[in-house]
Amino acid sequence: MNDIQTVKVALFSAEQDRSYPIHIGKEILERVDLLLPHLLQKRVAIVTNTTVAPFYLDRLRAALEKHGILSVSIVLPDGEDHKNWQTLNLIFDALLEQRCERKTALIALGGGVIGDLTGFAAATYLRGVPFVQIPTTLLAQVDSSVGGKTGINHPLGKNMIGAFYQPRLVLTDSATLDTLPDRELRAGIAEVIKYGLIRDAHFFDWLEQNMTRLIARDADALSKAIYRSCEIKAEIVAADERESGVRSLLNLGHTFGHAIENAMGYGVWLHGEAVAAGTIMAAELSKQLKLISESDFGRIRRLFQMADLPVIAPKFSPDDYLSLMRLDKKVEEGNMHFILLKRIGEAVMSHDVPASILTETLLTCTANE
Ligand code: NAD
Ligand code: GLY
Repeated sequence: MNDIQTVKVALFSAEQDRSYPIHIGKEILERVDLLLPHLLQKRVAIVTNTTVAPFYLDRLRAALEKHGILSVSIVLPDGEDHKNWQTLNLIFDALLEQRCERKTALIALGGGVIGDLTGFAAATYLRGVPFVQIPTTLLAQVDSSVGGKTGINHPLGKNMIGAFYQPRLVLTDSATLDTLPDRELRAGIAEVIKYGLIRDAHFFDWLEQNMTRLIARDADALSKAIYRSCEIKAEIVAADERESGVRSLLNLGHTFGHAIENAMGYGVWLHGEAVAAGTIMAAELSKQLKLISESDFGRIRRLFQMADLPVIAPKFSPDDYLSLMRLDKKVEEGNMHFILLKRIGEAVMSHDVPASILTETLLTCTANE
């Protein structure tokens, strides 16, 4: 039997216990026994894409079949630029054509795009059906499969339409990373670094010492990074499921990053790449506000560089950035909120950043090296 580590996302309310496990292990894609307790009928719909399907769809379907579970397959086009209404509708078309019912679980097999689309479909199809995440990118394994944020992009803004809808189970097979392109692996590392920055200085130190192993896909290093990232995310989501407080810290670098993704055109910069450059912008802003030191800023920049992630944002004018950043979900009564660093391992939300410092940060971070 393969070694499995489990992190629990504890979600209790007066009416309901919606807690769920994140099972993490190598070669556990076919461990349907872990899935069975979370299914309400012997039929599921697997949502995946044209890239992931040839690697893993048949294996998953065959394993399900061995346990008497029939599956409908929904294979979507691949890419961030397909995270939209049209693609969501392809899921609904298939679910309706195949007469999927309220008890038919939707299984997301893929990266964050598939997870976000499938979760939103699960939240809304027949007003809500069971949802399972099987994340196959590092980014999805450490971040997007956990916590129940689901949704799609709008031409005017990233992830602007969606719902909070928790999965019943996250099944993370780290062996699926074997087929993941290097550029995608590095994009996932951006979100791993984020956890060290906002919550755990020791983990940040560990990342500095082990980045070479992570990039080289050392299995133990990857397992540790996935497990610790999930622990931190689970703790934060349990404390603030709907992002009314501490959960917003998980958006470090994202206000800038979403502006980059939107300005470049969805899919041109990978989400993790945009988050990397966006996190450097948040760190620069924190430095200019005298929250973090020059030397901490240097450590942060070096770690992203070790992971071969972008530390310079694409060149757009401050006005272009600002107009895209105003589309952020954290905007309240027209005011932008920023996640800043007080030190490595501690992030804070700030409501009042002087416009002149923000403009200076945008100019510094988009300048040619
Ligand atoms: P992605 O889903 O586009 O996957 C990246 C690429 O890798 C795709 O081409 C995909 O087909 C391919 N792929 C996936 N698994 C593979 C495998 N095992 N082998 C080979 N190829 C594989 O991108 P992503 O980085 O996983 O996710 C980014 C998305 O996640 C963005 O839309 C972002 O907004 C979202 N996100 C959501 C949350 C959340 O909390 N819901 C958090 C972070 C990011
Ligand atoms: N990725 C940010 C969040 O889940 O809140």
